[in-house]
Amino acid sequence: MPAAPPPYRNNDQKSFAYTSARKRWPTILTQAIDDLSRAIGALPADTPPATVAEGKALIQPISALLYDLDHDRRITPFDVPSPTPDALRDLPAYNADIAQLAPGQDTWLTAPWLVSECVLYRRLALVFQTAESDTWRKYDVFGASKLAAFASSQTGVVELATRYAQLASSTLPSLTAAVVKSIRHKGPAAAAVAAEPVAVLQELFREFVDVALWGNATDLSLLTNVKLEDIHKLQGNAARQANEANVLANDTADAWDAVFGDFEAAEDADDSPLTSQRVDFVLDNAGFELYSDLIFALFLLDSGLVKTVVLHPKSIPWFVSDVVPHDILDLVQQLQDPAFFKLDPESDARKALDFVGQRLEHYLGQGQQDASGGQIVVRTNPFWTTHLSFRDDLGPAGRAGGALAWEDLKDATLVFFKGDLNHRKLLGDLEWPRSTSFLAAIGPTLAASGVRLITLRTVKADVVVGLPEGKDTELAAAWARKNPDSGDDGRGWAYSGKWAVVQYSEGAM
Ligand code: F6P
Ligand code: MG
Repeated sequence: MPAAPPPYRNNDQKSFAYTSARKRWPTILTQAIDDLSRAIGALPADTPPATVAEGKALIQPISALLYDLDHDRRITPFDVPSPTPDALRDLPAYNADIAQLAPGQDTWLTAPWLVSECVLYRRLALVFQTAESDTWRKYDVFGASKLAAFASSQTGVVELATRYAQLASSTLPSLTAAVVKSIRHKGPAAAAVAAEPVAVLQELFREFVDVALWGNATDLSLLTNVKLEDIHKLQGNAARQANEANVLANDTADAWDAVFGDFEAAEDADDSPLTSQRVDFVLDNAGFELYSDLIFALFLLDSGLVKTVVLHPKSIPWFVSDVVPHDILDLVQQLQDPAFFKLDPESDARKALDFVGQRLEHYLGQGQQDASGGQIVVRTNPFWTTHLSFRDDLGPAGRAGGALAWEDLKDATLVFFKGDLNHRKLLGDLEWPRSTSFLAAIGPTLAASGVRLITLRTVKADVVVGLPEGKDTELAAAWARKNPDSGDDGRGWAYSGKWAVVQYSEGAM
């Protein structure tokens, strides 16, 4: 195992951390202040004056955070109230690592990127979490921008729903029936019967991995300068196919083989479900990405490949666009709300959206009962909004909920980690040479943790591993040729979200 390199830091001009801390974070905090000001202005006339006053007062700690960032102040520890409410139980772990920041690496513009970025979003969330009034304690400061982005995704949303509705009404049931039949009648002839439908199921699995992968290309923290109208160009089947060659590592087939490769092993094919597998999604962004994840979940459940899907959203607003539980329920309602996506009530598009919405509602409803059929369960854990890396803390000794998360994920047959930030945490956001193997970079604890995982990530930050020797140089040279004025010597390829990796760990103990 190679020794762990140092983390990316905010004062490294060669890292995207440098511009992130200096340009993107101030923009994001300013947008948060704007959002809060608008929300105060939009309060109903009968709002208690104390709530209005509290809203105005909340602007101050956000401005103070912006000031500290702009003036490169030291990152100070969180005040942890005693007794500590459950929702703040993660703060001592933050403080322990803030205290460990070395002199010269302990300010907003010099600290390790991952730690400081998480502290930034944690501080912002804390402003609201500790508010007196319900209005502000429950307020999602990124809610409006998530909503607007999803509303502007109609083209991609309809395309995917139409594709899925067609599949679910014809192809999927017959495929499932063929596979179930062959499992029931074991023997050489049955294997031949099953071979073709299984191959089609595998092909569909690959397609939905792709959908969920490129759904990650449109996250709002990166799109601070992009118009919402441009988002739909990144979505849709044509865009995905054009991007096929940009998947730099693709272990989808390994994950399929490990989980679904042997249908003979699925002994409990009682009714329609083929297996009793549980697949988890450690979610990333709301809006179109969440929608693409949910469509994937529907495919897994409706095909009978999987019996339970567990979704792991964040428990507080996070990195602008990340999913919090209300985003899931909101999305299901929005799909079925004629005023949200305005479509001809008789159109196939409207019927497809209603169909997808109803299927999701069905599985989410099942999750609340002790259901014997397929179900979608939603579970939060404060660990997902700490600064802690998965290579260090997603294991038996994991801090701030890491051990609990590990216990939970071990029970899944496969865990999808979505997006860039989760990927950075898997690898520790360390300066790995880009030809390092994925398993070496996630480290021995996680690689042998009993958690079988696959990461679907469009690359938007420096840390990338698993590339063939020379590939990074080749990509950088091509990027520099195409973007001669960028001044980044081609490093920008890794911040663009145009390339992706799908990487897998068996988790064998
Ligand atoms: O790299 C830019 C960035 O904002 C990072 O701060 C963060 O890792 C990532 O993008 C967020 O992207 P995602 O939503 O895919 O995790
Ligand atoms: Mg995100």
